[in-house]
Amino acid sequence: MTDQANPPAVKKLFIKTYGCQMNVYDSQRMAEAMGAEGYVLTEDQADADMVLLNTCHIREKAAEKLYSDLGRLKPLKAEKPDLKIGVAGCVAQAEGEEIVRRMPLVDLVVGPQTYHRLPAMVRGEAPAIVTDFPEEDKFDHLPARRATRRAPAAFLTVQEGCDKFCAFCVVPYTRGAEVSRPVDRILREARDLVDRGVREITLLGQNVNGWHGLGSEGEWGFGRLIRALAEIEGLDRIRYTTSHPNDMADDLIAAHRDIPQLMPYLHLPLQSGSDRILKAMNRKHTAAQYLRLIDRIREARPDIMLTSDFIVGFPGETDQDHQDTLRVVAEVNFGTAFSFKYSPRPGTPAYERPEVDGPVADERLQELQALLTKQQKAAQEGMVGRTLGVLFEKPGRKAGQMIGKSDYLHSVFVDAPQAQVGDLVQVRIVESAANSLHGELVA
Ligand code: 5AD
Ligand code: SF4
Repeated sequence: MTDQANPPAVKKLFIKTYGCQMNVYDSQRMAEAMGAEGYVLTEDQADADMVLLNTCHIREKAAEKLYSDLGRLKPLKAEKPDLKIGVAGCVAQAEGEEIVRRMPLVDLVVGPQTYHRLPAMVRGEAPAIVTDFPEEDKFDHLPARRATRRAPAAFLTVQEGCDKFCAFCVVPYTRGAEVSRPVDRILREARDLVDRGVREITLLGQNVNGWHGLGSEGEWGFGRLIRALAEIEGLDRIRYTTSHPNDMADDLIAAHRDIPQLMPYLHLPLQSGSDRILKAMNRKHTAAQYLRLIDRIREARPDIMLTSDFIVGFPGETDQDHQDTLRVVAEVNFGTAFSFKYSPRPGTPAYERPEVDGPVADERLQELQALLTKQQKAAQEGMVGRTLGVLFEKPGRKAGQMIGKSDYLHSVFVDAPQAQVGDLVQVRIVESAANSLHGELVA
């Protein structure tokens, strides 16, 4: 029988990604690693030979989603006993064997530091549960990023893990200690992405601005890395996330002033505007220090848009503390921000502390979100009449329409029948809709 008559069966992989952008990047890399094993991605879970759930552990709700999704997979597994089900990411790291005990339909459990071993696990050449923190660098063991043309915007992980130990946060336990990838690897990966059509790179790390590494003239900080990346011909836009206020070094602030490719957008979590709560959270800065930092960043790049993360109802938070948060938010005026109700995470220092009453925390969350939504709307409306760069990422639903991201990361819809995905164009913003902008090409 010829190969043509009996082609090798293509195996299909369905990946669901929960949580942060680090996970989006990890899912892409796992898809590439499994691609070398003959798996192609499918968007249809029912059609898959393997389902991989790449999980997030940051809040309880995020972890619970995994178990309800696994429950929903039971009928599919009953129908297709050969279906492989894998759990990756931070819940895998934190709960390990417990996942298989609770959900025996799970075949594989792989932590975020060991996903390069996934192909061997699927082949049965490695244990079914791998959640150690290995000495080896997973990036050395992953296949080169696929030699196909890529979407115009890509993620690139430069740093992983966190040494900050905020009292509420599981990341230092699930992602481990801070590790920075070496300069030459990052530059090589960035050049490679640009060669494949990428024009915008978002540098990723749990504490990305804490990145440091040995470069040509000795130790480099994150600002120096951005300067080196900006020299890559064809790399038009650089972004980074997520940063800690205490790692906003002078050189990084100066990079926002000097480097046009560095987009005028900064996500800088504050968590609370109360010094008492910031101290209890182990954030190691005050509200006034944060405000001073914002002043310096705005001096360097006056048009920068700031975004943030907040937690309400942290143990011990009083109404006065909450008012302090509202006051600081009003003073900074954020472009957008995420706000969460505190979720006690086992193993973190704040876990045992007495909680704020649920309804009180709910009310505070609503109040904060109302203020942040107002600021987000005003920031978006402030774009109307301005001319901004927009990088087209995909065609819109309407004929001739393109959807792209502005310098400030807003989605922008533009009628541009001649344009192609990957075009970076100047657009005059004409309208602000609920979660997007509409604009016209500037001739
Ligand atoms: N409860 C609520 N929010 C949390 N975050 C991290 N840990 C918790 C927790 N235990 C939020 C922080 C962080 C964002 C990624 O998630 O605001 O910046
Ligand atoms: Fe978690 Fe704090 Fe580290 Fe951010 S800086 S990952 S909130 S411990």
